[in-house]
Amino acid sequence: MTSKPQTERPPLAVVILAAGLGTRMKSDAPKVLHEVCGRPMLAYVIDAALSVSPERIVVVTGPDQEAIAEIMPVGCERAVQRERRGTGDAVRAGLEPLADFAGDVMVLYGDVPLVHGDFVAGLFQRHLDADAAATLTTVRLDDPAHYGRIVRDERDNVARIIEYRDASPDEREIDEINVGLYVFRSDALRPALARLSSDNDQGELYLTDVVHLLIDAEHVVATFESDDEEMCMGVNSRVELAIVNGAMRWRLLERLMLAGVSVEDPDTTYVDWGVEIGRDTMIRANTHLLGRTTVGAASEIGPGSFLRDAFVGDRARVVSSHLYECVISSGCSVGPFAYIRPNTVLAEGAKAGTFVEIKNSRIGEGSKVPHLSYVGDAVIGRDSNIAAGNITANYDGFEKHPTTIGDNVRTGSDTTMVAPVVIGDGAFTAAGSVITRDVPPGALGVARGKQENVAGYAERRAARRLRESLDEGAT
Ligand code: UD1
Ligand code: CA
Repeated sequence: MTSKPQTERPPLAVVILAAGLGTRMKSDAPKVLHEVCGRPMLAYVIDAALSVSPERIVVVTGPDQEAIAEIMPVGCERAVQRERRGTGDAVRAGLEPLADFAGDVMVLYGDVPLVHGDFVAGLFQRHLDADAAATLTTVRLDDPAHYGRIVRDERDNVARIIEYRDASPDEREIDEINVGLYVFRSDALRPALARLSSDNDQGELYLTDVVHLLIDAEHVVATFESDDEEMCMGVNSRVELAIVNGAMRWRLLERLMLAGVSVEDPDTTYVDWGVEIGRDTMIRANTHLLGRTTVGAASEIGPGSFLRDAFVGDRARVVSSHLYECVISSGCSVGPFAYIRPNTVLAEGAKAGTFVEIKNSRIGEGSKVPHLSYVGDAVIGRDSNIAAGNITANYDGFEKHPTTIGDNVRTGSDTTMVAPVVIGDGAFTAAGSVITRDVPPGALGVARGKQENVAGYAERRAARRLRESLDEGAT
């Protein structure tokens, strides 16, 4: 046994098991790529591992799971478990790239995404303090379900881990379970792995049998007793995925609230991992903030809003609206019922109001599109007002064309701008116009049929109706 001074930490490698088939997910995608708050669950486990600065991180995947490598950060290695022959075999595969590594090996599961840095640090510290050959995480559960049970001897040391399927009715009563997260000394782990046999109910190589071999050889086997039931939860089905999502969502909301964000109704507020929100911003009920969404300070989002990859500045308001890949600058107002599509920029103080759709456009400082309009492929200058029911007719059936609207423009209600077209600075359009030619700066564009009034129409119409009903009565 190599003994090291307590202050000098031995090198650490983390092996993350992720090759399980995830049959109960009923999915074509690898289980660990299913998302928790907008991020593959494996990414959280890698983050937790990174927080203790290990020398190496190896993710064990199946042979057909190249997709997993794509989400791994640089520096993480992938090992392939060719056949899924159990947790012991998976760790053996994980040690293949670590052939010349000497130190401690931490084993995490890729499908236990609520693990966090504090836990990983605590487990490792416990292992070092106990100077153990192996340290396993345990937790007491009200419903220990199908987890492996921890059997302790009269001196309270771990005697056995009994898999649920192999457990007697008495053993099934034990509420302390094997979470499956461990640290091993590599010089104890390697020889024990080499001796594993598949002589059990499932014909698998059990990692838990490594613990048994170490106990039998009178190595120190310590436990790290967690009280965080939630954190220990693994994902085996989409039902558990939903539960874990709920827990992670609460964690993210809690962090935001503690940083000065008001969340009116956490039960109906959905935030993805990585969403940033400034202080004194109010998130109202029924709101989704997803992807790389960022909201500044003192803004109000919701109720009923859906933002994906949206950037919102300070003191902005977004009510009952959908926003995608857009920039809503400080002081802007959006909604109720606006649909802001990709590549849209609302400059400071701009407004996109009720039943307004905007895509791939820039609305200049202080300009307003308040009601019932479609703006696509347009650039609008500053302090312009687009009246109710305006349309940029940007598509001729073959290609999209731009509309350019200058500063201080006032369009009339129900103006259709047939692109490509330019409305100059300070210009006007008359209500109901179909603008097909450029309107020069300061001009009024009028493009509509002239009104005619037909005098005496009502009287003539009434007389005709009377005549018709008399004719009907005669036949
Ligand atoms: C294992 C433990 C059990 C513990 C439970 C906690 C064993 C024998 N039993 O149960 O005591 O209570 O974890 O969840 O270890 N995996 C692979 N390759 C394989 C098999 C599994 O990579 O061949 C991975 C899975 O993707 C998963 C993890 O290992 O992340 C655990 O596998 P799972 O089948 O869920 O664990 P059990 O064997 O049921
Ligand atoms: Ca499992």
